[in-house]
Amino acid sequence: MNLAVIGSGGREHALCYKLQQSKKLGKLICIPGNAGTEKIAKNIDVNIRDFEEIYKIIKKNNIDMVVIGPEEPLVNGITDYLKKKSVRVFGPDKFASQLEGSKAFMKNLCKKNNIPTAGYGIFNEWDEAKKFIDKIGVPIVVKADGLAAGKGVTVCQTLGEAKIKTKEILSGKFRSSRLVILEEFLEGEELSYFTIVDRNSYHFFGSAQDHKRVGEGDVGPNTGGMGAYSPARLLTNDLEKKIKKKIIEPTLQAMKDFGHPYEGFLYAGLMIKDEEPYLIEYNIRMGDPECQVLMMKLKTDLLEILDYATKNNLNDLDIQWDNNECITIVLCANGYPGDYLKNKEIKNLSKIPSDRKNQIFHAGTYKKNNKIFSNGGRVLNSTCIAETLEKAKKQSLVALEKINWNDGFFRKDIGWRAIKKNEDNKR
Ligand code: AMP
Ligand code: GLY
Repeated sequence: MNLAVIGSGGREHALCYKLQQSKKLGKLICIPGNAGTEKIAKNIDVNIRDFEEIYKIIKKNNIDMVVIGPEEPLVNGITDYLKKKSVRVFGPDKFASQLEGSKAFMKNLCKKNNIPTAGYGIFNEWDEAKKFIDKIGVPIVVKADGLAAGKGVTVCQTLGEAKIKTKEILSGKFRSSRLVILEEFLEGEELSYFTIVDRNSYHFFGSAQDHKRVGEGDVGPNTGGMGAYSPARLLTNDLEKKIKKKIIEPTLQAMKDFGHPYEGFLYAGLMIKDEEPYLIEYNIRMGDPECQVLMMKLKTDLLEILDYATKNNLNDLDIQWDNNECITIVLCANGYPGDYLKNKEIKNLSKIPSDRKNQIFHAGTYKKNNKIFSNGGRVLNSTCIAETLEKAKKQSLVALEKINWNDGFFRKDIGWRAIKKNEDNKR
């Protein structure tokens, strides 16, 4: 089969890496890809907002299936567009993509179906929003309704900050929507829970814990993700049963009732408190950097999984995972998540081992004159799998130290909660 992967991040490099291991793979193209995907797929540089151009490339390259990595084209309806032209696509349609594309849609769906989530209000004007902020007090979470590339959420510790953030959203700071969602602050520990869904069934597709804050000890502004590990320590059998019954299943049923059954990866961002799950957000795709760790742990042929899913046959498939522990640490360009350095050469990559246990997944990179340069905030993902998380982390840090990129930085404490728990258990 010939496949196309849409996107250019670490997630897409990891998807290409896994697809390349399939004996059933013919041609693999990545649109637009990065310097990492270039080594294992054919990169084609097209704007991923230009669906017509993407369709032309798919036809020209005899592509049998398209896998959509990022949320933006999904929310803008790429699946509907390509399916109308009889292209096989893995990813939800435009309506179902509102689960991520509109926080108001997601929160209302939770309310209607009794899905546990933080208490909230949705506002399109200042007076009512202000009253709500004064009523709930702080901490309070202020969210833009639409896509905001991870920048639309602020956990506010003062009423003043909450009011400033609310006004910014109401006055159109985020072009995707002027609605503001104000939420109660949920205490607890976060967990990312992944599923793969077709019209007839869904499967668990891994768990992970992400580190969204830029600084060690989880401080500073939010980012797209500074690193992740899998499996998440928090996930027990009992908790998983609750997640499925209280959150995933009612959501999938609600989408069916809307006449838009969910199809694709569905990633639930959860807060766990006293062994109870609360939905913070849905993502309608794989996580980035979570995908990087999950692809190292996945044993079953990814192409086969996607083939079954797009034929609504997931029920017939057993998905197998490596039991070892996996970590990815993100190397970022100096300045990220604010304005960051660009076009800086990265040397030493050839010194790093590349095998089934150690991978450098590229994100914001490109190749020119046989040299690798950065062009994104998140640049590389040092991803390692080993018998213990501690060992995997060590391997990943050794690789980053060898790369020794002066124009970038990374967090040395990814996985700290799980590592601390392991240490406490030893005592
Ligand atoms: P979101 O984009 O909705 O996932 O929000 C980004 C991050 O903000 C989450 O990963 C949480 O760390 C935090 N967050 C969002 N909503 C809440 C909430 N209601 N209570 C506590 N933290 C939250
Ligand atoms: N790592 C968070 C996300 O993919 O949304």
